[in-house]
Amino acid sequence: MSDAELIRDTAHGPIDVAFVLGSGLAAAIGDAFERTSVPYDRLPSLAFSPLPGHRGEALMGTWGGKRVLALSGRAHLYQGFTPEQVTAGVQLAHAAGARAIVLTNAAGALNPKYDPGDLMLIDDHINLTGTNPLLGERASFVDMLDAYSPRLRAAARKHAKKRHRLREGVYVGLLGPNYETAAETHYLRTIGGDAVGMSTVLETIAARSLGMEVLAFSLITNAAGAQTSHEEVTGVANESAPRLADLIEKILPEI
Ligand code: HPA
Repeated sequence: MSDAELIRDTAHGPIDVAFVLGSGLAAAIGDAFERTSVPYDRLPSLAFSPLPGHRGEALMGTWGGKRVLALSGRAHLYQGFTPEQVTAGVQLAHAAGARAIVLTNAAGALNPKYDPGDLMLIDDHINLTGTNPLLGERASFVDMLDAYSPRLRAAARKHAKKRHRLREGVYVGLLGPNYETAAETHYLRTIGGDAVGMSTVLETIAARSLGMEVLAFSLITNAAGAQTSHEEVTGVANESAPRLADLIEKILPEI
């Protein structure tokens, strides 16, 4: 049985919506998600290990009337994984039926108005990783205007109203793994970034090349260019994850 078949079987049908849960954001899916967990080492297409401290499990089941696949733990370029490996989860979600994907990440603030704990809806991105999942002989020229679904962004805005302060901005994706120098932070802000991180952009490109709708959120964990650590990033993300779960649960019927 292929990985996609196993997921469809376990979820009792094709997946409606897939999630990728970023650093410290395992709790960004709610308690109401009735799930079965399959560790990545039982899914050959994902059987390379995520960061220590990332769980590396695929959760599948139903949430808010939708068949959901949540990938908890992602592979990053800075671990030495290829763009193809980094986007294997997106490919698998698509093969399991998902036509929409919700990407989440922990990110540093470039926008000086942002505070740690803020949620940012990603409106657009700048890919500065220096690589691309579409590289290759069969390279495709994917349109990236409105890569982040205007329809789903409107739904997020509507549901965030009153309950949550929702920032909106541009996410800059870097290779990492070091955090930014002060000069880099200044540069990234100057070119139009509001938040910076080390994931998401390749997944968005891969998802758009497959025709999937993309919705993405950054959980702001720190000011970029200020001293930070992986512990601070995952700590703030952990604390704020339930707020993200609450918002996602509201949007879910519209995805
Ligand atoms: N920079 C890059 N990636 C990050 C940051 C940051 O400040 N915080 C969380 N991920």
